[in-house]
Amino acid sequence: MSKNKITDIKGRMVFDSRGKPTIEAEVIVNNKISGIAIAPSGASKGYNEAIEKKDNKKHFYGEGVTENIKLINSIIRKALIGQEIENQKKIDNILINLDGTENKSFLGGNTTIAVSMAVLRCASKSNKKPLWSYLNPKNKKLPIPEIQIIGGGKHAKGSIPIQDFMVIPNGAPDFYTALEWVYRIYKIAGDKLFKDGKLLGVADEGGYWPNFRDIEETLTFLSKCIEEAGLEFFKEVSISLDIAANNLKKEKGYILFKNNKPYSKKQFKKKLLQIINNYPIISIEDPFDELDLDEYKEFKSEAPSYLQIVGDDLVVTNTKLIKMANNNDAINTVLIKPNQIGTISETIKAINLSKKLKLFTIISARSGETEDSIISDLSVGWGIKQLKVGSMSRSERLSKWNQCLRIGEKLENNYVMHQPPSIWKSL
Ligand code: PGA
Ligand code: ZN
Repeated sequence: MSKNKITDIKGRMVFDSRGKPTIEAEVIVNNKISGIAIAPSGASKGYNEAIEKKDNKKHFYGEGVTENIKLINSIIRKALIGQEIENQKKIDNILINLDGTENKSFLGGNTTIAVSMAVLRCASKSNKKPLWSYLNPKNKKLPIPEIQIIGGGKHAKGSIPIQDFMVIPNGAPDFYTALEWVYRIYKIAGDKLFKDGKLLGVADEGGYWPNFRDIEETLTFLSKCIEEAGLEFFKEVSISLDIAANNLKKEKGYILFKNNKPYSKKQFKKKLLQIINNYPIISIEDPFDELDLDEYKEFKSEAPSYLQIVGDDLVVTNTKLIKMANNNDAINTVLIKPNQIGTISETIKAINLSKKLKLFTIISARSGETEDSIISDLSVGWGIKQLKVGSMSRSERLSKWNQCLRIGEKLENNYVMHQPPSIWKSL
């Protein structure tokens, strides 16, 4: 029996990186130890994510979280006071039962994840351990970063239709070197875009917001930046894409640029396979709308064996949907976002199931983030090999890379990074 009992819980409104209201939960143990966590927020969401509850009233143009805060300070507080802080599963079950819906629409997935993460943070503090080592002291490796260089889609008002053009330093000997390589690419990309008069700013996740009118033009540009940084494709650094195709699928097919002819499902599949063959791309996320499962399956069977095919909106960290995607042979990798499902314990279930099904996992932040860097601790503590949090600008992104650097300092073998997934071994 633990002596560490919850004595108070508070909810408060804070702002996320888009300046929108979100929820901070504070959990207090034994009237003295406090753990705080903040709910992130997605912009391009899967159809089956836990509901992000907002007030939908006049204040903050509908984005207020007054109701969520009230729920934390009343029924959640009442139900959790007296619980042992280490009993994450039991606490999460109380939240799930209090909510009582399939998609957390009563309490809000944003409410439950803030509380669930604050409980975990408070438990680690109560046990006087850094969060990553409280989760599992044996997991002592940093994740391979997947870092955005160019942002598009819903994160840049549709300027370029694909959501993330990222790089993966898959051949870096350690995490520190991985960041140094990406720093070079990011810097070169910014300087070049500015010089060519193509820089419009940075998008929601800190990647450049460029004025390109063509996917191939963007990929050629990114490839050149990698070369100019003196890095070798595939062996050292490769490209990864998040198509976020839910946002491209319209009634008549997939539309990349306004006024362009839509691609049928088959044509879109062909287009994706073409760009994969022409550029050093090793990972592709949500290549099709989540309803186009046949295309997923065909694409997977036709794509090169080194290609990581990642389900994000397709599976939304939900065990039922991970099983469904696996039964349909749609993906080989699962993107894990704790707020898609709404509690820490359900996130762990999704990770365990993915492992059991021999699917790779990537843990990911959201496009709306905050100074909370819990995701970095989770990636190390849960032994997840890859981490996706956006780019190398904007402090809500850097706070995650910085937390990895802090953790790296504490590891026996400074900045030791996971080995790449087996499908990249042949690169
Ligand atoms: P979101 O985007 O956080 O806006 O959903 C991130 C992603 O699609 O990976
Ligand atoms: Zn995604």
